[in-house]
Amino acid sequence: GKITFVEHDGTAHQVELVDGESLMALATGSGVPGIDGDCGGEASCGTCHIIVDEEWIQTTGRRSEEESAMVEMSPECVPNSRLACQLRATEGLDGLTVRLPEFQM
Ligand code: FES
Repeated sequence: GKITFVEHDGTAHQVELVDGESLMALATGSGVPGIDGDCGGEASCGTCHIIVDEEWIQTTGRRSEEESAMVEMSPECVPNSRLACQLRATEGLDGLTVRLPEFQM
């Protein structure tokens, strides 16, 4: 399976889906620019902000309260914003596309 990360300028990066890994780990492991994951996946840095495409939100679900507390500090936060470290890859996410904000926190 594949997950596609699209940078703010439209550059797309296809990443191999690894079941059970977080989207943050997949992105940083593949060198996707713009996802830093500074806190190592603790939902406490906000440098893994992604925006889930509307047609996938049913599948991924929306962010938790804990994620909201962090990601809502970003001026670019929108209703479909998530922290990539809190989104676990499963085969059901094959074909998922997420976009990156212009700036991470
Ligand atoms: Fe820090 Fe996701 S890696 S909030």
